[in-house]
Amino acid sequence: MWKASSFIAIVALCPLVSSALADFALHKILSDATPIFGSYVKESGQKAEWMKAYPDDTLLVHMNIPGTHDSATWNYTQPTQDALRGITDLNQVTVPVPETFRCQELPLIDMLNMGIRAFDLRYALDPTNSSLIFYHSQALLSETATVDDVLFGFYQWLDDHPSETIFLSFQHESSTARYASDDAASQLKMYNALTSSAARHYFVQTKGQLGTLGDARGKITLLRRFDLNKLPDSYTAALPGLHFSPSLWTDNGPDISLEYNTDKHLTAYIEDYYQPLTPTGSSAIENIKWKYNATVANIDKATTQHPDSLFWTWASGTNLENSPPDWPRIMAIGNGTGYTPNGGVNQHLLSYLKEQKGKRVGIVMFDFFDRPSDLTDTFLAL
Ligand SMILES: *[C@@H]1O[C@H](CO)[C@@H](O)[C@H](O)[C@H]1NC(C)=O
Ligand SMILES: *[C@@H]1O[C@H](CO)[C@@H](O)[C@H](O)[C@H]1NC(C)=O
Ligand SMILES: *[C@@H]1O[C@H](CO)[C@@H](O)[C@H](O)[C@H]1NC(C)=O
Ligand SMILES: *[C@@H]1O[C@H](CO)[C@@H](O)[C@H](O)[C@H]1NC(C)=O
Repeated sequence: MWKASSFIAIVALCPLVSSALADFALHKILSDATPIFGSYVKESGQKAEWMKAYPDDTLLVHMNIPGTHDSATWNYTQPTQDALRGITDLNQVTVPVPETFRCQELPLIDMLNMGIRAFDLRYALDPTNSSLIFYHSQALLSETATVDDVLFGFYQWLDDHPSETIFLSFQHESSTARYASDDAASQLKMYNALTSSAARHYFVQTKGQLGTLGDARGKITLLRRFDLNKLPDSYTAALPGLHFSPSLWTDNGPDISLEYNTDKHLTAYIEDYYQPLTPTGSSAIENIKWKYNATVANIDKATTQHPDSLFWTWASGTNLENSPPDWPRIMAIGNGTGYTPNGGVNQHLLSYLKEQKGKRVGIVMFDFFDRPSDLTDTFLAL
């Protein structure tokens, strides 16, 4: 497969490359990225450039950053699952119904243009053991769009919106395909993607701490939810950004304190209570209530405590063991019937956020971020 990283090497080393060819090459990469990134459209306007309103010396930990959970799942419908079934069977994994995995309905490019600045991306090696692609648990989200391709989408968008900054959370997704173990080959590929000349240019190179908006404009901050423990330490040392080791991230934790910089004792306060531990047979209403409770508990803390620390709240939830199962969609927005008379976590959060004007809430990751339609706008107007 044609490699994005070799494109940059060619451009950097060969002054004879025509700019027409560079344009064609970029066009090809963006086109390859489409199944995950969406079809690239250049859009300006207030929501695409909302960070213009903030001065350069604003500390990133003081900002309110809307994000999306499992951002790459937006096109994972039954036709997508059917189309990828041959490859999935090849993986010899059983994949539950698509509702289990779908957490969004708009592509990354729309998220960016609508104001989203933090993304949750889950990768693993593809079924032919050749490139890193995107998964949500067992669900293969595209067989062709690679991590490298999608990164170029973000790079292009930043070139078009130099006032903005982006946070990319990368996490290795295991229990997926035959080759999807977190082995040295997989770790090396991720390392290469994040240290290519293009990545060095577009990722903030600071390590272990967040600075000002001014220093991060036009760039990406890596939120590294993976370890490089199968490679020599020098590889880890060469990666920028903040490290949230999976070994320190309490599974289903409502109230995680994770020290991402041990020298300076910098701690992030995280809520990632994705599966409410409700009694068996609890209604969707009950599950939504528990998830909302944990979400608001962390945001309340962000508005009142540790003003200079990072807060990272996940509003996303699911309870698949329940009968009927509470899919991410029902948890986030309900199903529009008497089954969920007050909607889902998002509707509840909308009312709550309207009361938080002028307060710092930190980074908040949503499922179905575009519903209700004024959720992101309300968040950005805090
Ligand atoms: C979304 O999925 C459908 C069904 O698999 C597919 O036809 C379509 O091309 C996908 N969209 C993109 C942008 O890849
Ligand atoms: C996948 O490819 C790598 C080389 O990139 C190799 O080291 C590894 O053994 C392969 N994995 C399997 C399961 O064959
Ligand atoms: C609600 O959140 C608080 C604070 O995290 C927690 O102590 C309590 O157990 C939660 N209650 C439910 C029903 O989830
Ligand atoms: C909403 O969910 C309930 C419980 O699963 C189900 O009985 C009902 O048919 C669903 N309604 C819609 C419109 O999806």
